Amino acid sequence: MKILMVCLGNICRSPLAEGVMRHLVEEQGLDWQIASAGTGDWHINEPADKRSIAIAKKHGYDISKQRARHFNADHFESFDKILVMDQQNQKDVLRQAEVVHHREKVMLFLPDELEVADPYFDDKLFEPVFLQIEARCREIIEEIRKESL
Ligand code: 4NP
Repeated sequence: MKILMVCLGNICRSPLAEGVMRHLVEEQGLDWQIASAGTGDWHINEPADKRSIAIAKKHGYDISKQRARHFNADHFESFDKILVMDQQNQKDVLRQAEVVHHREKVMLFLPDELEVADPYFDDKLFEPVFLQIEARCREIIEEIRKESL
């Protein structure tokens, strides 16, 4: 299973989803590939936002070595699932999908049309966003494991 986590800047939300998911799948002995990317190109090659690195560290995850990447259409072939943090990310990714098979790989990270709030301009959001991402990563692993039974 190859999963790409996508947000806008690839420095706050999707690096958390990448790091937490990679940690959890490794813990469970799953040979999955996890990565993240941003629909915007402002932060390419930068580490995650200091606040994301700090909240991850507080909860036992090290995301300090990850570097931001820009989403591109090649990712539709290199990943099985493309999980987007909000509806704007979903629109920006789907705009680049040319075939149904690629569109079908794109899903909101949260269920029921919910979005992961962008914490970039609000320090207080990092803790709830982290907790939401961690809980959802655990659920996604269970859902995919059931799908592949
Ligand atoms: P992210 O948050 O999409 O969760 O990484 C943002 C980070 C940077 C910017 C916007 C959102 N920005 O405008 O630079």
